[in-house]
Amino acid sequence: MPNTASDKTISPLETPRLGEPYLLTPGPLTTAYEVKEAMLRDWGSWDGDFRAMTAELRRQLLDIAGDTKGEFDCVPIQGSGSFSVEAMLGSFVPRDGKVLVLINGAYGKRIAQTLGYLGRDHVTIDKGDYMPPRGPEVAAALNADPDITHVIVVHCETSSGILNPLKEISDVVYASGRKLLVDSMSAFGAVPAGIADLRYEAIVSSANKCIEGVPGFGFVIARKSELEAAKGRSHSLSLDVHAQWETMNKTGQWRFTPPTHVVAAFLEALRMHREEGGVAARGVRYARNRDVMVAGMREAGFETLLADRWLSPIIVTFFSPADPAFAFDRFYELMKEKGFIIYPGKLTVVDSFRVGCIGRMDEHVMRRVVEAARTSLTEMGVASAAPPAVALAERSRLAA
Ligand SMILES: Cc1ncc(COP(=O)(O)O)c(C=O)c1O
Repeated sequence: MPNTASDKTISPLETPRLGEPYLLTPGPLTTAYEVKEAMLRDWGSWDGDFRAMTAELRRQLLDIAGDTKGEFDCVPIQGSGSFSVEAMLGSFVPRDGKVLVLINGAYGKRIAQTLGYLGRDHVTIDKGDYMPPRGPEVAAALNADPDITHVIVVHCETSSGILNPLKEISDVVYASGRKLLVDSMSAFGAVPAGIADLRYEAIVSSANKCIEGVPGFGFVIARKSELEAAKGRSHSLSLDVHAQWETMNKTGQWRFTPPTHVVAAFLEALRMHREEGGVAARGVRYARNRDVMVAGMREAGFETLLADRWLSPIIVTFFSPADPAFAFDRFYELMKEKGFIIYPGKLTVVDSFRVGCIGRMDEHVMRRVVEAARTSLTEMGVASAAPPAVALAERSRLAA
């Protein structure tokens, strides 16, 4: 049954959705009614009101990043998150620089691919589908190769849901005199990555993740000295972070057509983020979403890919049941009929699926997700949600 305005189990967080399914996906995600409503008027991109909105957005994002000393600045970039990652790489890695890319999933791989397109020299530590990159191996790689100038890490690798040990990695990067860039696309705004606690040169996220806006732009939060040094370095006109920064600071405008409605929606999303209690409160809600959902799914017989220690509050990977009556496509459709859009898995060795914990929903919704999963299994004739032995063997590699 789709979610409706008359649904009696609606929690205070929910807004009437008139049949819209919840997106249990890591962005685009379910947004508040107020966020959607904020897009109901048009803005002139050169107009002073819109310029003030851009300035406010930049200021508030710096606040969230905890830039108390004014050492960083925020540069929004049109496009999806990958555009901002590419802009960061092309702007902050010198053409004769060399990057160590820490890979444990699809987004780390995309970074290496992007560096290939940009013609930037790079090496990788590839841990496979989900094993975390650890400090000592990063330190060893840096000691072995003095040419490496930068390290880049994905904060939450959304393809498995693992929360990578950012602090551990930052510490070894700076202990060996290199610089860190962070792809915090799916974590910024809900998982602490405060400038005061963690050292990096730049961090990237986008509008449609943990701040709960709609898709249309990303943003780079970078040390001002790095922004200065990036002048003339980018391979790309539209993805030149320095040029966008300089123009925004001089004129208050984006260089090319801004996603005006997305910016208006994002400001409303930022207001709601603040009202909820900022990064800490959002992280608590998402963690509660995860805990309730994971506990319920485990009770139903499902197993998570990751041990609790590595589970992010962003998205969780479950092994597909071994029962031959289980088929992901059918499960997906049955969940959708009940008002929930889930996500296919991205593991190469075993079948899996993912359930997101982020977006405008709370633990009451997550209880209904679990109920929907249980009912869907029954409808499919799946007697047990237990994964195949090969999946459990795969998981024990992580515990070792
Ligand atoms: C960690 C991470 N990096 C990069 C991206 C790419 O963002 P986009 O799909 O918006 O280009 C995503 C998208 O989910 C992500 O989770």
